Amino acid sequence: MNSPTPAATRKNTPTASLTDPSGKTIELPVVNGTVGPQVIDVRKLYGATGLFTYDPGFTSTASCESKITYIDGDKGELLYRGYPIEELAEHSDFMEVAYLILFGELPKAEEKAKFVSDITHHTMVHEQITQFFRGFRRDAHPMAVMCGVVGALSAFYHDSLDINDPHQRMIASYRLIAKIPTIAAMAYKYSVGQPFMYPRNDLSYAENFLYMTFAVPCETYKPSVVLTRALDRIFMLHADHEQNASTSTVRLAGSSGANPFACIAAGIASLWGPAHGGANEAVLKMLSDIGSKERIPEFLARVKDKNDTVRLMGFGHRVYKNYDPRAAVIRRDCYEVLGELGIKNDPLLDLAMELEKIALNDRYFVDRKLYPNVDFYSGIILKAMGFPVSMFTALFALARTVGWIAQWSEMIEDPEQKIGRPRQLYVGEARRPYVPMEKRA
Ligand code: CMC
Repeated sequence: MNSPTPAATRKNTPTASLTDPSGKTIELPVVNGTVGPQVIDVRKLYGATGLFTYDPGFTSTASCESKITYIDGDKGELLYRGYPIEELAEHSDFMEVAYLILFGELPKAEEKAKFVSDITHHTMVHEQITQFFRGFRRDAHPMAVMCGVVGALSAFYHDSLDINDPHQRMIASYRLIAKIPTIAAMAYKYSVGQPFMYPRNDLSYAENFLYMTFAVPCETYKPSVVLTRALDRIFMLHADHEQNASTSTVRLAGSSGANPFACIAAGIASLWGPAHGGANEAVLKMLSDIGSKERIPEFLARVKDKNDTVRLMGFGHRVYKNYDPRAAVIRRDCYEVLGELGIKNDPLLDLAMELEKIALNDRYFVDRKLYPNVDFYSGIILKAMGFPVSMFTALFALARTVGWIAQWSEMIEDPEQKIGRPRQLYVGEARRPYVPMEKRA
C-alpha cells in the first residue's frame, strides 16, 4: 500500500510571510499538491512565534498528505487514485475499486483474481462472534451493533494486531473488508429474529451481502443482476471521500498506535451522526415527515428559518459547492432499480424529485451553494431493495471500510506520522486557589 512523499523532502518551495503581534516576521513554506489548493506548512509556527493556528472544524486545515482521493468541490469532481468516480461507476466494480484504493493502481487480471480470492476467503467470522451478537437487545440499532462487534474483532484476531508488521497490517485489512458485510448482515438478521446466513464464496461481494441479508435457510435465493449491480455501485460511490469526519477519526485513533479493528470501530461511531453517514437515514425520515408535495413549502420555510434547527437532509456538503458527482450517478440508478422492482410511481422518489427541483431554484440554497449529496438518493434505492432504514448507515460503513483501511495504512506508512494532538484556544478560568466548601458563594 502506497505512502505519500513527505512535504519536508520537497525542494524550492515558495513561502508565505507572517508577521506576529510583536512585529516578528517569519517565512512559512507553501507546498503544492498534484492538483488542488496549495497549503501553508505551519509546523514551525509555534516554535518560532509561540502562536497556534485556530480552525475549528478544520475548514482551512489539511491534516495530512494523501495520495488516495481527490475532491474538487467547485467542479463537483471526485477521483479515486486519479480516476473519476463516474468512469469507475460505469466500468469497474467494488472489488477492483477496493484494490485501486488500497494499492494505488487498477489491478491486472491475475492481481484482481487473487485479491478477490483472498478477500473471499476471509468472509466468515469466528464462530464465537455469533454468541457475542446474542448479548445485544433485538431492537439495537445496527450501527450500535457494528461499533461493538467490529471493535471486538481485536479480541478474536490476535495474530493481526501488530501494526508494525506489514504482513499483519495486510491481514487485518483483508479481514475487515471481508468480514464487515458478514457482520452487517448478521446485525440485520439478529434484529429480525432470523438465523444468520453463512457467507457463500461462490458469490460476488455485493451478491453475497444480499444473500446473507435476504436469504433464509428454507428457500433458495438468487439476487437479481440489476440489484446486485446497483448495490455494488453504491459501494463504489461510498468507498472513500478523503479526510471526512469518520476517516479523520480513524486516522486520529490510529495515530496513537491503536489496532486497526479498534480504529475502524471509531470510524463507524463517527459515521453514525446525521451530519455524516447518518444522513441517508435522516433523508427518509424527513421525506416521510413531509408526507406530500403540498407540504414542501411549509417544510422549506422551517429549513430557512434561523430560529429553527431543521435542515434539508441530503443537501449541502463541506467540500462540494456544486452537484455531488456521487448523487448524479445514484440518481440515475434510482430509476433503474425502481424499474427492476416494478415500482412505477414511488411516492418517496416523486417527493424527493419535487423537493430537489424546488430547492435547486430557491435563492436560499442557490446562494449557499447547497446541492443534493449522495445521501439524498441512496436511501430511496436501499429502501426499494428492501433494506430497513436503520441499515442504511451500516451499508455506508461497509463500503467506507475500504477507504478507512487505506487511509489508516497510508498514515502508518507515512514517515512523518505523529500522534494526532491538536492544541486549543483556552478561554476558561486562569489559575486560581482551591475554595473550601464553607467559603463557596
Ligand atoms: N439545509 C439548510 N441549510 C443548510 C444546509 C442544509 N442541509 N446545509 C448547510 N446549510 C446552510 C447553513 O445554515 C449555513 O447558512 P448561513 O450561512 O446562513 O448560516 C450555510 O448553509 C453553511 O452551512 P454550514 O453548516 O456552515 O456548512 P458545513 O460545511 O459546516 O456543513 C453539512 C456541511 C454536510 C454538515 C451540512 O450541509 C448539513 O448539515 N447537511 C445536511 C446533512 C447531510 O446531508 N449530510 C451528508 C453529507 S454527504 C455524506 C457524507 O459525506 O457524510
